[in-house]
Amino acid sequence: MLRGPIGVIFGDTGSLDFKFASADGQIISRTGYVKVWHESNGWVLAQVISITRSSEIYSLDTAISVAEGMQVRSSDEKIVAKANVIGSRNAQGILVVPKTPFSPGDRVYEADKELVQSTLGLAQDGIYLGLLQGHDVPVHLDVNKLVQKHCSILARTGSGKSYTAGVIIEELIEHDVPLLIIDPHGEYVSLRYENTDLEGSERFGITPKSYRSKVVVYTPANLTLNKEADKVFRLDEINLSAKSLAQMLAIDSNIQMGILHQAVSRVKEKIELYTIDDIINFCKEEKSKSKWNVINALESLRETGILSSSPTTIDELIKKGRASIIDMGGVTQELQGIIVARLCNELFQARKRGKIPPAMLVVEEAHNFCPEKGLEKSVSSNILRTIASEGRKFGLGIMVVSQRPARIDKNILSQCNTQIILKVTNPNDLRAISKGLEGFYSGMEEEIRRLQPGVALLVSNDIEHPIIVDIRTRKSKHGGKSIPIVTKEDKRGKRWTIM
Ligand SMILES: Nc1ncnc2c1ncn2[C@@H]1O[C@H](COP(=O)(O)OP(=O)(O)OP(=O)(O)O)[C@@H](O)[C@H]1O
Ligand SMILES: [Mg+2]
Repeated sequence: MLRGPIGVIFGDTGSLDFKFASADGQIISRTGYVKVWHESNGWVLAQVISITRSSEIYSLDTAISVAEGMQVRSSDEKIVAKANVIGSRNAQGILVVPKTPFSPGDRVYEADKELVQSTLGLAQDGIYLGLLQGHDVPVHLDVNKLVQKHCSILARTGSGKSYTAGVIIEELIEHDVPLLIIDPHGEYVSLRYENTDLEGSERFGITPKSYRSKVVVYTPANLTLNKEADKVFRLDEINLSAKSLAQMLAIDSNIQMGILHQAVSRVKEKIELYTIDDIINFCKEEKSKSKWNVINALESLRETGILSSSPTTIDELIKKGRASIIDMGGVTQELQGIIVARLCNELFQARKRGKIPPAMLVVEEAHNFCPEKGLEKSVSSNILRTIASEGRKFGLGIMVVSQRPARIDKNILSQCNTQIILKVTNPNDLRAISKGLEGFYSGMEEEIRRLQPGVALLVSNDIEHPIIVDIRTRKSKHGGKSIPIVTKEDKRGKRWTIM
């Protein structure tokens, strides 16, 4: 049944926007959706972008008099809303905007759930992200599109990035998508516990859940130091190629690369199963003085203890119904980069050859692993760029999470089809976001600045228009920063060493 109108169009109208006058108490909020009947297009969806209240009685002089104690007869307040037209679906399901403007006098109604869903192109099921703000319409993302076409979650610190990433991870686990989570702060370990902070969860229809049976936590440190971890994580030390060593070691000069290649090809001829020690010995036989840089780099890698003859295999990490978390707690940033570089190369190669099922890679604090060119360097940049640009061909998705959008490689951000943006205030970060967003409209920057924690602007090629979503409550516990995942020694600046 059609509820009564909330307003009437007046003044000059266009086919892309219009103004309507509303009676008090009937107006819906800014960013709310309304509909208007158009003789050629049927019901057309529009979004309120501003609301103003005005009064002729309350002129400046009257207001001053009232402030000074004068009595005034009741207010003649007028409420005027401005709305942008989104459009309607034609018989072929294509979104179209009316060719002729609405007429002054046309009635404006609150948009119903079905019209909002079908016009915006919201999926009916899939990844349940939350509710469309102002309308309790569930917002779902298509699982295949999200994984294949990548996703970014960007916001300033404390705005709910990791919380939102946690929501998506829960949904991906429930859809049996294998996950590999690069977790610098051990925030996702708490997926193993039920959420106990359920304030406001009824609205989202969420019941607490633990993902204990699906989650395996790995530490590149050791199990004595990281009590939350299930297993240690190690990289293979046997028969490392010059290429994979170069990927881990930031070796960029041709001379150094030549020395490494030479040493590895000679070691291969002599020793069937060689280790990094053998490569170092062969490097020492080289004549060039540059060999010492290569030897130093190889020795530093050996000393991290990350290489082992019983490595963690990619087949073990990437399985259906499994989320593997690499908890980087206590690991230096340099070693984190080495691990991500090597692991992601193995992941990409294994997926390319079809050795593992389609999967999603989650990279928290992504600005550290794929920094924008000209800023810091990371050995993991190249492979993350490759996964972002080619991963979709092989069913390997990437989800990047960061509080510094301006400091992430733009190529990677631009490959993300789904962009979830929470509150951002830094002008450089806002600029970086606006450059990468399709359908960026003026006023969106202000919208992003004003977002409340836990509220996101969702921009996706599969949704017709950017939408504002109240992110749902987590089913499992949010790790965040409140869980003591670091030891006292860490807080005093001491770093864990690896055995
Ligand atoms: N959708 C939400 N529902 C309820 N609470 C939320 C939501 N999003 C965020 N919060 C609250 O906000 C806090 C901060 O969120 P979160 O840890 O995700 O921030 P962050 O953006 O990852 O910050 P940082 O940059 O410090 O990692 C959380 O501890 C949680 O209490
Ligand atoms: Mg976080």
